[in-house]
Amino acid sequence: MILETERLILRKLEDTDDERMFLMDSDPEVMKYLETPVTAIEQSRNGIKMIQKQYAENGVGRLAVVEKESGLMIGWCGLKLLKEPINGYVETLDLGYRFIPEFWGKGYAWEAAKATLDYGFNELKASSIYAYADSENTGSNHILRKLGFENTGEFEDSGVKCSWYELKREKYL
Ligand SMILES: CC(C)(COP(=O)(O)OP(=O)(O)OC[C@H]1O[C@@H](n2cnc3c(N)ncnc32)[C@H](O)[C@@H]1OP(=O)(O)O)[C@@H](O)C(=O)NCCC(=O)NCCS
Repeated sequence: MILETERLILRKLEDTDDERMFLMDSDPEVMKYLETPVTAIEQSRNGIKMIQKQYAENGVGRLAVVEKESGLMIGWCGLKLLKEPINGYVETLDLGYRFIPEFWGKGYAWEAAKATLDYGFNELKASSIYAYADSENTGSNHILRKLGFENTGEFEDSGVKCSWYELKREKYL
């Protein structure tokens, strides 16, 4: 599965993305509102394997984002099926994104997320897509609102206050 925007290609993660994944996930700035940064490339390889398993089992998973101009993998963006209950919801289709800091501030997160939502609503015919972010993650909360997501509440995830978002199909199309 490949999605294309003006400046980006979204494709499945490959084993050879390990070094770029490690560069991203070992950076404390990237992980500020997320998990502990990884310290060994093996952890990034395992992460890629986990996502490849989700492609096979769920038909969806986060996709590698490649900058057309440079040909570089600059991060990931995509839908993930959350099987475990979160904020009282089950089997939710969750939008997520993460990029290498060198590529921040160029509108790439917004561009990749827009293509992902188009795919989710037009191809997968999702009735709602959800997202959540640490309430202090200003950038992510801003992007979600700008995409049209509605902030429907707050909840705690592993002791962190998060904002919960929903975008309904009829609000998007
Ligand atoms: C959050 C993140 C994805 C933003 O990526 P990005 O490509 O720089 O975002 P964009 O350039 O598409 O920005 C879209 C909008 O958000 C705003 N924005 C982005 N980061 C911001 C920040 N840190 N503070 C305030 N606004 C921010 C931009 O100004 C832009 O606003 P505008 O379109 O109204 O002018 C990126 O910083 C990142 O990867 N962070 C680490 C991982 C992460 O936190 N992921 C989200 C987990 S919920």
